[in-house]
Amino acid sequence: MAFTIRVNGKTHSVDVDGDTPLLWVLRDVLGMTGTKFGCGKGLCGACTVHIDGAPTRSCVTSIESVGASEISTIEAIGATAAGAKIQKAWLDHEVVQCGYCQSGQIMSASALLASKPQPSDSEIDAAMSGTICRCGTYVRIRQAIKQAAQSTAHGG
Ligand code: FES
Ligand code: FES
Repeated sequence: MAFTIRVNGKTHSVDVDGDTPLLWVLRDVLGMTGTKFGCGKGLCGACTVHIDGAPTRSCVTSIESVGASEISTIEAIGATAAGAKIQKAWLDHEVVQCGYCQSGQIMSASALLASKPQPSDSEIDAAMSGTICRCGTYVRIRQAIKQAAQSTAHGG
């Protein structure tokens, strides 16, 4: 069945079953492999994308449920103000270890910053808690989000 979806500002027509997870469509149909497959069950956060700005687990989101919503992925997050600040802070703090979870981490963090430019510690914890990092980069993730929020406060 054909579905028309919006990804990173572009329209794509895809021919898949309606219950196909969005993650499969992004990776296998559109070739956008920056969004990662981790658990496939909505538990790890590696597959997080934004749907109309909200962080969403694409492995448990069917293509038929997406409709005309705007989907954003890691490939385009640097073009947003919050995403660019998060990416810079990630580099400054050398957050990444193996990297596997980091698309999801950056998508969760940039959604947080876009909706709450000055998040409290508990808001950071709540927004990031379900995104698992087997390398244990949590301390640097929190430092990087704080730096990105500070640069928001200073307009930088
Ligand atoms: S792959 Fe989607 S939450 Fe783990
Ligand atoms: S950096 Fe390796 S799982 Fe997070």
